[in-house]
Amino acid sequence: MKTYKVLTVCLGNICRSPAAQGILEKTAANHNVFLELDSAGTAAYHVGNPPDPRSIAALHQANIDISNQKARQVREEDFHYFDWIVAMDKANLMNLRKIQPKGSRAHVVMFGEFTDDVHFGEVDDPYYGGEEGFSAMREHLANISESFVLHLKTQQ
Ligand code: 4NP
Repeated sequence: MKTYKVLTVCLGNICRSPAAQGILEKTAANHNVFLELDSAGTAAYHVGNPPDPRSIAALHQANIDISNQKARQVREEDFHYFDWIVAMDKANLMNLRKIQPKGSRAHVVMFGEFTDDVHFGEVDDPYYGGEEGFSAMREHLANISESFVLHLKTQQ
């Protein structure tokens, strides 16, 4: 069975992309799809830090543990290594496209492209809001992950 390498990307790599990684891992296991996963940020503000405690708590409610992840910044090799690099919002996507080396292998797309759910494919940044934003993020990411994994299944 083919293994897909997928990198989830947001700005700080402490709220959305670590959550996306954790949810994708669970969704893929449910569908017997093999994924090698990592997450990264376009910015370096939080390099080395664990995910935001509010993201850890929101995922814990879905029995997903993301507390061992550590933030890192996207690097050039990622575009050669991963099959898919999925961005949480348009600014992330634009920043990724700016540094994407020509001829690299990764499909660089909006993660939200894989569902017609809310907000034109963007996963809203919950960082400056309250805890309800983190639950909404979890549910949105779960919908997208389901569609994304089903998309991968159609390619097998
Ligand atoms: P994330 O959220 O991109 O989903 O990890 C943010 C985390 C930190 C900041 C902004 C967004 N920040 O400005 O520090």
